[in-house]
Amino acid sequence: AVEAIKPTVCISYNAWKKYPTYDFDTDSSIHKFVSPFSSLQNEQYVPPELVDLEKIGWGNIVVQNNEGKLTKEAASALADLAAAFNTQFSKPIIVVSSYRSYGYQKKLLAWYTQTHWAGRAAVFSAKPWFSEHQLGLAIDVFNASTDGIDGYKNDLAWMRDNAYKYWWTQSYQKWVDVDGYIVEPWHWRYVGKELATYLWENKMTFSEYVRFWWVWRANAK
Ligand code: DAL
Ligand code: ZN
Repeated sequence: AVEAIKPTVCISYNAWKKYPTYDFDTDSSIHKFVSPFSSLQNEQYVPPELVDLEKIGWGNIVVQNNEGKLTKEAASALADLAAAFNTQFSKPIIVVSSYRSYGYQKKLLAWYTQTHWAGRAAVFSAKPWFSEHQLGLAIDVFNASTDGIDGYKNDLAWMRDNAYKYWWTQSYQKWVDVDGYIVEPWHWRYVGKELATYLWENKMTFSEYVRFWWVWRANAK
């Protein structure tokens, strides 16, 4: 499986000279970076313009057991992805989690901490205020849950090959030491065209990118 391959990323001096500028800090940025070690600035942050995924999805998106909302920009990119997915497989994308409020994430982590030991819960569930879901830029896709579920293997493979064309990236591909969490094939993050393309072409996760970006920036000065 793709996620089992550890990356060996070489950064050329050339790349150092032309690092792009992204906003990893502002809560409303589409490039806002959160990890177990970096939170939102505003604990109670709620994204502007949350859009209903089923309304924008034209039948290509089915929402299960969550509110089914993302920011307008991410929702529209997901609608495009879902349309292409449906063309390929004649079925919808099933979204089992999308925007999660601070309060919801808090309850979720509390539940996982009860049902697993706390150290385990911490590597698959973000703390409230630390989750990409609170940004309204991340979804959990049931179709991509696991390679093991019969009938869904091709769905996940398609997501891995095509999601970047619709400006999405799989945040957690390379385990805890690289991405901060265990591998989550179902969790996809909207990052916009330029970064999604870059990550895909370089087989990088967002987390790796952010780390390298600091190095590039330091060296470009
Ligand atoms: N499962 C991911 C890490 C989250 O809770 O945001
Ligand atoms: Zn998720």
